[in-house]
Amino acid sequence: MRLIIMGPPGAGKGTQATFIAQEFGIPAISTGDIFRANVSAGTPLGVEAKRYMDAGEYVPDSVTNSMVRNRIAEDDAKGGFLLDGYPRTVAQVAELDSMLADAGLELDGAVVLTVDSEAIVQRLLKRATIENRADDTEDVIRRRQEVYGEQTAPLIDTYRERGALVEVDGMGEVDEVTQRVFAAIEGLKG
Ligand code: AP5
Ligand code: MG
Repeated sequence: MRLIIMGPPGAGKGTQATFIAQEFGIPAISTGDIFRANVSAGTPLGVEAKRYMDAGEYVPDSVTNSMVRNRIAEDDAKGGFLLDGYPRTVAQVAELDSMLADAGLELDGAVVLTVDSEAIVQRLLKRATIENRADDTEDVIRRRQEVYGEQTAPLIDTYRERGALVEVDGMGEVDEVTQRVFAAIEGLKG
């Protein structure tokens, strides 16, 4: 399957992506995780991305798009993949469309996690004490939410119009959400 998972910062995309990947036997590809790995390794990509990430802004499309194009061309993604945190802009949607079209492939669906915005600020502040992510401060979390609202939330309508969008309630226990997500994906296969 070729899927994307969307939702605001802290919605649980990464948490659920791990379970989806296991259940459906596809790699979970998180642009945020790839950027963070590059930041840790001190690569030029990491140096470039860090300036934006620490401020809660999006990394430029040109950088992000070529990174994803390379990643989904790898062997483990040949049979399918789950994209976590991509696409997030109109230009990224167009780029993903063209990557898939070039390979003669189609997206099976988009899973959107719906959450309460105050609850997810609390989730991220809690995560800050565990993972120490530079962008998990209250100010940057609020900026990430704004950027999501401006640039990414409108894309939900784009996928809804295409008819392969499933919205899943992302509140409640992690395993309850996982069961809802699995059921939604099974529905897409239908
Ligand atoms: P990214 O790493 O994708 O961050 P994000 O979108 O802000 O989302 P998070 O990873 O913070 O949250 P999540 O939805 O994955 O939730 P999680 O499962 O961790 O991107 C970071 C930055 O990279 C961006 O700001 C941007 O700069 C750059 N970037 C990335 N992609 C880009 C792109 N395409 N274009 C341009 N720039 C890009 O859960 C959050 C916490 O809640 C965890 O502690 C978790 O344990 C907990 N939790 C999860 N589920 C539950 C639950 N049901 N109940 C209670 N707690 C829960
Ligand atoms: Mg994440």
